[in-house]
Amino acid sequence: MVGARPNFVKLAPVARALAARPGVEHLIIHTGQHYDPLLSDRFFEELEIPTPDFNLEVGSGTHAVQTAAVLERIEPLCQRLRPDWLLVYGDVNSTVAATLAAVKIGVRVAHIEAGLRSGDRTMPEEHNRVVTDHLADLLFAPSRDAIGNLEREGIKQERIAFVGNVMIDTLVRALPAARSLETHQELDLRAGSFVLVTLHRPSNVDDPAILGELCDALAEVQRRRQVVFPVHPRSREQLKQWDLTRRLGGVCLIDPVPYLAMLSLIDSAGLVITDSGGVQEETTFLGVPCLTVRPNTERPITLTHGTNRLLRPTREALVAACQNGFSRRTPPPALERWDGRTGERIVQALCDGAQFD
Ligand code: UD1
Repeated sequence: MVGARPNFVKLAPVARALAARPGVEHLIIHTGQHYDPLLSDRFFEELEIPTPDFNLEVGSGTHAVQTAAVLERIEPLCQRLRPDWLLVYGDVNSTVAATLAAVKIGVRVAHIEAGLRSGDRTMPEEHNRVVTDHLADLLFAPSRDAIGNLEREGIKQERIAFVGNVMIDTLVRALPAARSLETHQELDLRAGSFVLVTLHRPSNVDDPAILGELCDALAEVQRRRQVVFPVHPRSREQLKQWDLTRRLGGVCLIDPVPYLAMLSLIDSAGLVITDSGGVQEETTFLGVPCLTVRPNTERPITLTHGTNRLLRPTREALVAACQNGFSRRTPPPALERWDGRTGERIVQALCDGAQFD
């Protein structure tokens, strides 16, 4: 079961590993939480994920409406299919809804990317993570800190498998193709010196004062460095609603980019400014400096072992951090089980009962 853009990136390696297993039938349910071709179809094509077998077409709505639509539509499907496992990914509304529906009718759930915690109960993703992990039967953790979080919450060791980071599987496989794209050239950007921006979290884009301040800061950075900003639909709506686009000055605004182009841009950027979860990990793996505009992160390994730094959403903080944020690219840290083989481990655990402590 997948629903939103970051889920698709995590599904690809698992789908490939399952396809290589004789006798295993893998069906894909897309909830339709993300329905724009730019956020959905392009990802399936590029990542060579089979077309979903079912699309629940839940679309947008408030958290309750979206979650309820997934609950209502996935229950009869799980009743009919009675899978051995329902695999759920990440921390989006579709993840928690599918988990709740499945466990209530006795379908076992495995959560991929379990145990991440920001400790910030104002984030919708944090509610989704906590509930999903407590309900799911098998928890696939990407890092040791995630296992620590689960254990602290009283979850028994036998429900947890340390398989590594599945998103890095996708990155490792796609990197040669992404590099050959040289997307920065199409946008007239100088490799190693431009700033790549992605912002879409409610905490940054749902308050006009904060979003306005971030726009001013980016416009100021743009005076010294080229800044490119692929704009998520949520952020585009807010920029338009509050007439903030003009405050971005000369910043190059583009539509959300497909996976390979995004990876190409991250890889050639001098600095990345983001509030995304996945981008914090991708920059760490590639050794590209990253500023995360959030008070906390559920991915602390990117701070302790990687290139990530947290940043307050103020003009002053952002401009100052950009002035000395460009550093030489560091070699990728050797993070345990971030090795491109996580999808295989997940399938070994599911099909052979392999334990990854
Ligand atoms: C969701 C996830 C977030 C993830 C992000 C990646 C939740 C709570 N949040 O946030 O964890 O980082 O996806 O992109 O599940 N919209 C479109 N077209 C689409 C999808 C959305 O225009 O295909 C617009 C709609 O106006 C919608 C808004 O974006 O109201 C928000 O979409 P939604 O799926 O609710 O959450 P995201 O902000 O995308």
